[in-house]
Amino acid sequence: MENPLYHTVKIGNVIIPGNLFLAPLAGFTDKAFRSICLTHGASFTYSEMVSAEALSRDSEKTRLLMERADNEKLLGIQIFMSEEDTARRAIPEILKANPTVIDINCGCPVPKVVKNGAGAALMKKPKTIEKIVKLLTNETDIPITVKFRSGWDLNSVNFLEFADYAIRGGASLLTMHARTRSQGYSGEANWELLRELKNNFNVPVIGSGNIFTPRDAMGMLKETGVDGVLFARGAIGNPFIFNRTIELLKTGEELQEIDLKVKIITALDHLNLTAGYKGEDTACREIKKQLCSYTKGEPGSAALRNKIVHAKNMEDYRDIFKEYLA
Ligand SMILES: Cc1cc2nc3c(=O)[nH]c(=O)nc-3n(C[C@H](O)[C@H](O)[C@H](O)COP(=O)(O)O)c2cc1C
Repeated sequence: MENPLYHTVKIGNVIIPGNLFLAPLAGFTDKAFRSICLTHGASFTYSEMVSAEALSRDSEKTRLLMERADNEKLLGIQIFMSEEDTARRAIPEILKANPTVIDINCGCPVPKVVKNGAGAALMKKPKTIEKIVKLLTNETDIPITVKFRSGWDLNSVNFLEFADYAIRGGASLLTMHARTRSQGYSGEANWELLRELKNNFNVPVIGSGNIFTPRDAMGMLKETGVDGVLFARGAIGNPFIFNRTIELLKTGEELQEIDLKVKIITALDHLNLTAGYKGEDTACREIKKQLCSYTKGEPGSAALRNKIVHAKNMEDYRDIFKEYLA
């Protein structure tokens, strides 16, 4: 793969076959969605964020978050915790899941997480990330990676200092969501900061923030020089974004829109996979928001979404979609 924009990424001793990563997305990136994204060209996938504390207390529900999909040869498991001792206690369970990479969440803005000192709160204690990464690199040969924000708020944009501590601990890759914690998910991400990060460190850098179209991905790669991009909200209901980005990076040409029928067939595949992994009842309950997003922006899609919201079982879903496939 010699394309200057679409290429492999080396994380420690692991070669990732491309540079289009699926983000960790709590409530979305379960194994069914990850599997669909891999089928549609994603180079690498992450689990939803997994509580190291819950793992160390032997939580079966938490352990399930780390299971692989059938087509998932590689998997990044993302964990969150506030200090190294929790990481130490969680290690045996994490290792049983045989991750390709262990990623540490230093970006989650949710009050429940930050009030316990985890997620984005770690950005306020950069020395702690060094300790956590060091502990994990001492305990395992699996590459340790770190995902963080540009800072806690606009008055404390400390990503360079933070990354420096992570690297001192032994981190093999840096992923930055170029917004502060106080920005949440709104407004423009500041890609300029990604360029600064890339220019200051030798490990691969993956950029995150505002990747909603293949052109956004190409723009970030070109403008910032990052090694890869992370697809987050832009992949929800839109796994096609991976192959479309590959096509754009290879040809530079405008892409065809995805046909509504293709979207519906993929949504049905997604439903069937989820039912296979989680059982029909759970799948029918949990998948509504994902299925609704497949048809976002399509003419008449509000009526379709209304039906999805009211569907109760697989039969209901199949009937709803059948209309659109006729
Ligand atoms: C619903 C949702 C769930 C998320 N869950 C996680 C998570 O579990 N771990 C994490 O590191 N980031 C999480 N993120 C952040 C994304 O990985 C990504 O960095 C962020 O959405 C910015 O990219 P975007 O602007 O292209 O969506 C989440 C974001 C959203 C919207």
